[in-house]
Amino acid sequence: MAFPQNFLDEIKNRIAVSDVVGRRVKLQRRGREYVGLSPFKSERTPSFTVNDDKQFYHCFSTGKHGSVFDFIMETEGLSFPEAVEQLARQAGLQMPEQDPKAAQRAAAAATLIDVTEASALWFQAQLKQPGAQTARQYLEQRGVTPELIEKFGIGYAPAGRTALIEHLTARNMKPAQIVEAGMAIQPDDAGRAPYDRFRERIIFPIHDARGRVIAFGGRAMSADAKAKYLNSPETPLFHKGAVLFNFARARQPAYDANSVLVVEGYMDVVGLARAGLDHAVAPLGTAITEDQIRLLWRMAPEPVMCLDGDEAGLRAAYRAIDRILPQLKPGFSVQFAILPAGKDPDDVVRDGGVEAMKDIIGRARSLIDLMWEREIEQAPWDTPERAAALKQRLRKAVALISDGDVRALYGHEIKSRLDALLGTQSDQRGSRGGGGRSTFARGQKSAWGARRSVHASSEVRRSDLGRGDNDFPRREALIVLAVLHHPQLLLTQRDAFENIDLSSPELDRLRFSIIDYFDRLDIDQGEDASGLDNSALTGHLISLDKSKLVERLGAMPEVRLLTFVRKESALEDVKTGWLETTVIHHKLQTLMAEKARVQEELGNELAEEGTQDALDRMRAIQNEIAALEHNGQSA
Ligand code: UTP
Ligand code: MN
Repeated sequence: MAFPQNFLDEIKNRIAVSDVVGRRVKLQRRGREYVGLSPFKSERTPSFTVNDDKQFYHCFSTGKHGSVFDFIMETEGLSFPEAVEQLARQAGLQMPEQDPKAAQRAAAAATLIDVTEASALWFQAQLKQPGAQTARQYLEQRGVTPELIEKFGIGYAPAGRTALIEHLTARNMKPAQIVEAGMAIQPDDAGRAPYDRFRERIIFPIHDARGRVIAFGGRAMSADAKAKYLNSPETPLFHKGAVLFNFARARQPAYDANSVLVVEGYMDVVGLARAGLDHAVAPLGTAITEDQIRLLWRMAPEPVMCLDGDEAGLRAAYRAIDRILPQLKPGFSVQFAILPAGKDPDDVVRDGGVEAMKDIIGRARSLIDLMWEREIEQAPWDTPERAAALKQRLRKAVALISDGDVRALYGHEIKSRLDALLGTQSDQRGSRGGGGRSTFARGQKSAWGARRSVHASSEVRRSDLGRGDNDFPRREALIVLAVLHHPQLLLTQRDAFENIDLSSPELDRLRFSIIDYFDRLDIDQGEDASGLDNSALTGHLISLDKSKLVERLGAMPEVRLLTFVRKESALEDVKTGWLETTVIHHKLQTLMAEKARVQEELGNELAEEGTQDALDRMRAIQNEIAALEHNGQSA
C-alpha cells in the first residue's frame, strides 16, 4: 500500500537514523556524521556513515545507502510496509487507515506540523497588529530589536479565547488536531468547545532539528501572571526532554565555533544573540536530559553549561553530573561556567557586553573538577573513616562512567588527587605539578599552622579560581569580601586584616574604610556587637560612594561556591576559611618577593660562583609557589 508522504516524513523526523543503526553498529561521531564498521560486509576500518541531518546512511565499501526504512529492510529482512509499521510503532504513530480512500484523506489532511507552523505565522502577524502595542513595548524595553524578533520568529498571542482556533479552522484544520498539537485546550467536559492555550503572551516558537516549528513558549508580560512562562504540553511532535530551544539555528554557529553554550531560558538565548553569540541553546525549563546531552554533542564536543548565579544553580549542576557521567565517551565532555550571583546570561551581556560573557566562559570548569568538588563539599575527610567515605563516593561516581577508557582515566586522575589530598602518596616527589601536596601532605601542616577545617581546605583550593582575569586579584578580593559579609570577624581579626598585603589599591582603600568603621564603633572585644553586621557596614560603605566596588565584590561567582565568603555561613567556618586563605596569601606574597630578589641577583651575578646557589634557591622557590598555587587551582 502507499503511505502518505507526510506520514513517512513524520516517522523519519521522530527517529534518528543513528538511533536505529546504533542498535546494530557501534557508531562514533565524526564531524556531523557517525561512522562505524559496515553491517553489510566484514571490515577492519569503518566505511559506514550515518547522517542524521540528511536522514540517510551510506556504506562506502558496498555502495549501499538509504533511509531508516531501507536499513530495517536490509538488516531485518522486512518488507517496506513491515518496516514502516515497526518504525511507526517506535515513533508512537498510528498507522494510517488501510482503505485507500482513507489513505488519501490522510494525505490531504494537515499534519500536526502544519498546525504549529500556521500558528507560528499567525502569532508573528499578531505582534504587528495595533492591539500588540504593549507586547512590542515590552520587547523593546528588554532590548529585543525588530531584527531579533524576526530572527527568532517571536510573536504575540492576543487575549481572545478562540482567535487562533478560528484562524486555523478557517484553514481546514480540525479542532481535535489543534488540541493534539497543543495549541488549544479541550475542557474536561467534552461537550464544551476547546479554547486557545496561549493568550496574552509573548510567543517564542520552538523548532525541531530541521527548523520546523513544533511547540511554543509563551511569556506573560505582567509580573503577577499565574505562570511566567506557559509552554506547549507534550504532543506527538514535542517531547520537551528531547528538544533544545534554538538548536536548529545554533547548529552552524556552534559547529563553526566548536562550542555551544547551554543557558537556562529563552531570553538568555535571545540576549546572547543580541551580543553576537549565536551558538546558544536552552533546555525547556527542566533539568538537562540524556537526549539533550546527545543533541549538544552533535553541536560541539564540550558544551559549556552556564550555571545560574545561586546555590540552586550549583545544586542543579551537581545533579546533572550524574546524568552526564554514564554517557561520557572519548573526546566528549561538558564544562561549567559560573555566572555572577543573581545574573543570567542576558543580564551579563546587557551589563558587561560580550566580553563579560566570554570572560566567564573562559573560566569554565571541567566536569571532573566539579565532580571532585561536589564530593569534597559534601563532608569532611579529617579522619580515616571519613576519608574512606570520600574515596568511596568518588569511586561510585567514577563507576557510573560506562566508557572503559574514560572510566579508567577518571579513576587514575581521582586516585592521584586523593593521594595528594590525603597525603597517601608514596614518597615520590613532584610527580604532578607542585608535587601534589595538600593541606595534609607532609611538611604543610606545620607551615600552615594546625588549623585544618576540611571545608576550608577545599575553599582555599578554590579561592584562586579565575586568577589573572581583568578584575582585581581574586584571593585578595575574597579576603576583603569575607570581612564585608562577616564584619564580626574583625572582633578577633582586626589586626590581621589590617596587616595583609593587598596589591590592589582599590581593595586596600576599601579595607581601610572597613577598619575605620569598625574602630569607630568602639566595641569592646567580645561584647555587644550590634551594628557590626553586613547591612550596616554595607550601608556605611555606600555612603562613602563605594557601592560599585561592593557590588562587584558581591557578584563574584565564588560567593556561592566558598563557605567563607557566603553570607549565610556560620562565623566559625568563615573564620577558618578566612585564616587559611590569608595564610596562603601571605606565603605567596613572601615567596613572590623572594623570587624577585633572587631573579635580580641572578641578573647581576657575573661571577660563576654563587650562580648555582641562586639557581637552586630559585628552583626551590618556584616549587613552593607551584605547590601553593597548585593547591589553589585544580587540586
Ligand atoms: P527564567 O525564569 O530564567 O526565564 O526561566 P528567562 O528565559 O530568563 O526569562 P526572563 O528573563 O525572566 O524574561 C528559564 C526557563 O525556564 C522555563 C522557560 O523555558 C524559561 O526560559 N520556565 C520558566 C517555564 O517553563 N515556566 C516558568 O514559569 C518559568
Ligand atoms: Mn532572564
